[in-house]
Amino acid sequence: MRSLLVSLALAATLGGVTAAAAQSYPARPITMVVPFAAGGPVDTIARIIAVPMGKTLNQTVVVENTTGAAGTIGVGRVARAAPDGYTLSIGHWSTHVINGAIYPLQYDLLRDLEPLGMIATNPLLIVANPAVPAKDLKELVAWLKANPGKASLGTAGVGSASHMGGLNFQNATGTEFQYIPYRGTGPALQDLIGGHIQFMVDQASNSLPQVRGGKIRAYAVTAKSRLAAAPDIPTVDEAGLPGLYISVWYGIWAPRGTPRVIVDRLNAAIVAALADTAVRQKLADLGQEIPPREQQSPEGLGALQKAEIEKWWPIVKAAGIKPE
Ligand code: MLT
Repeated sequence: MRSLLVSLALAATLGGVTAAAAQSYPARPITMVVPFAAGGPVDTIARIIAVPMGKTLNQTVVVENTTGAAGTIGVGRVARAAPDGYTLSIGHWSTHVINGAIYPLQYDLLRDLEPLGMIATNPLLIVANPAVPAKDLKELVAWLKANPGKASLGTAGVGSASHMGGLNFQNATGTEFQYIPYRGTGPALQDLIGGHIQFMVDQASNSLPQVRGGKIRAYAVTAKSRLAAAPDIPTVDEAGLPGLYISVWYGIWAPRGTPRVIVDRLNAAIVAALADTAVRQKLADLGQEIPPREQQSPEGLGALQKAEIEKWWPIVKAAGIKPE
């Protein structure tokens, strides 16, 4: 009799969440953890999507910035959180793929996180403070070569998208410069505008508003085609560094073990947000492309993340990139 009661109790719980709690989800605000500083690209996209997600879920989705070590602290906070749908991880190619090849993580990117859906992709822009005396990409490379080790490039830490972009640029050009790490490319961009650092290889969504405002200069986009949102910025192929492509895709995850009924509710909220005309416009203005509907599914994001880990880990490990 006792073991029957135990089995019944177990059957009524789903990954530690009672079936009743899963059905009445969400009963309180949800926290979406941004693993970088406020004002940067992950923070911006989180704030664009959190409000419409909250409307669909009938609850507030609160954005929380837990920063440090190229996003590993914030992602770890979610990997260790209760699998009840109240703590989510928003991140991208570097936080949910690259970091696993660089840092001795206390969590497993695939085993400890439940994919909810892919949300967007954007390339990087090679940008500089307008005081840098280079009018195009070839002149930038020539200037860096004439001043080895003098210029500094802002990043969001070892392994971040902006750091990987900088490394890729350095390998392709044979230039020497200093890497200056920040808690996110939001603060790095402020220092670029202020002239404290000279250049960045930064996500388009972060830099574009400042390029439009004339605060920084863009030399090239790391993609095969020009951005619809900024058709005057040449591609790397056109500007003189052919094939220097990097695109940064975004997704949202929950802790592994989150009940399927909650995963489905969260995914439905993501899909509804991405179908919203105002959200689509805001993302398009920032150079973010929304993925096709099938990639917005938990399975679509899971397959992409796994394939990217298989592709990038051998490359990053062979490059011997070490945490600072
Ligand atoms: C951020 O939100 O600050 C960025 O995504 C950092 C990066 O990966 O370059």
